[in-house]
Formats: sequence, structure tokens, C-alpha cells
Amino acid sequence: MEVGGGHFAAPDPAELTPEAATAIYGDLFDEMSGGYRLSGRSFARNYPRWRRYNTAPYRSATHGARFVNNYANATADAYGRFEAAGPMPPGSVIAKDTFYVGKDGASFPGALMIMEKGEAGFSPTTGDWRYTMIMPDGSVFGETDGINAEGMRFCADCHAAAAAHDHLFFMPEAFRAGG
Ligand code: HEC
Repeated sequence: MEVGGGHFAAPDPAELTPEAATAIYGDLFDEMSGGYRLSGRSFARNYPRWRRYNTAPYRSATHGARFVNNYANATADAYGRFEAAGPMPPGSVIAKDTFYVGKDGASFPGALMIMEKGEAGFSPTTGDWRYTMIMPDGSVFGETDGINAEGMRFCADCHAAAAAHDHLFFMPEAFRAGG
């Protein structure tokens, strides 16, 4: 399944080597994290200090063909064991920042995708995860239990396919940094 819609689909994305993607990410990072911070959400302020579990940005077909990274807070450090991680404890937060690179070389920030694990029973239909999407200007596109909850259901619906590993998909093997 590919997600469509103006906020999500990236037309004509570039093919980049890991080195080239890393360099562009380095150039964009301050602008990306500065924009997300305007949301006022603590995860946006904190994630740049969390551990990153991918070795280089990779293109994610399921997140609008943008280039993405995956960070996890200390509570979620089992994320680095990938499919062997087991259920994440409450307070776990996974952050996926994203950017777009077009074939014409233009690059710009994409949305910040967040999964936050609540207490048992917080949200039985989403495996107790809250999904939030922050736009590059810091506005909140939606969150599964708040703003635009209806428009965010597709996040949880797709991630439910990974219910066997606590709704987490992890990244392609080639980009995994061990933990
Ligand atoms: C069509 C399926 C699909 C949809 C829709 C989707 N995701 Fe994902 N998500 C994935 C896959 C597959 C991965 C792992 C590979 C990757 O990064 O592409 C992933 C990874 C993630 C991760 C890193 C944690 C993990 O699973 O390893 C976060 C955070 C995340 N998605 C948040 C979101 C949010 C927020 C939305 C909605 C705005 C969303 N996703 C919509 C399939 C989806």
C-alpha cells in the first residue's frame, strides 16, 4: 500500500547513495529539527539527542517515498534488538524524521512521525501506541487520540500488520545499526 495525498506523497523522488543521503540530511537537520520544535512537543525538542538506529537515511515507500531516520528514547532502547525486542514499555517513544529529495536535486524537510507507547489499556485498538504527525513548520497534522484523529487512523491501521512485534516494522536490514 502506498499512501497518497498532498501531505504525504513525494512525486519523483531521487535515487541517492547512503553517503549522499547522509550529506543532505546533515545540511537539512537544523532546519528540520528547528521546525518540529515549534510544535512545543517535548519529543520534538528531545529526539535529536536520542540514539539513531539506522546507519544512513533510506527511502521509505510507506511514508511518502521520503528519506527517513528512526530514533528511539532511552525507555525504548530495546528497539535496537529489532524483531527480538519484545513489547516496548510505557513511555517508549520512536521518532522518524523525514525529508524530501527530488530528481532535480531540490531538498526540503518532511513531517516528523512519532509513536508513543501509553500505559496498558491506553488505546487497545492501536496496541497502546499514540501516532502523531508534525509538519515541517511545527503544526500538528494529527494525533490518533486528539487533533484530526480520524485522519491519523491510517498510521495505526498499517502498523497493526506488525502486531506480532508490538506494531513496529523496523528498518530495512541494510540500514540497521545494531543496539
Ligand atoms: C502503509 C503502511 C504504513 C503507514 C500508512 C504508516 N507507516 Fe509508519 N512504518 C511503516 C513501515 C513499513 C515502517 C518501517 C520501514 C520504514 O521506515 O519504511 C514504519 C516505521 C515507522 C516508525 C518507526 C518505528 C517502526 O515501526 O520501526 C514510526 C515512528 C512510524 N512508522 C510512524 C508512522 C506514522 C506517525 C504514520 C502516519 C502518519 C505512519 N507511520 C504510517 C509502515 C507504515
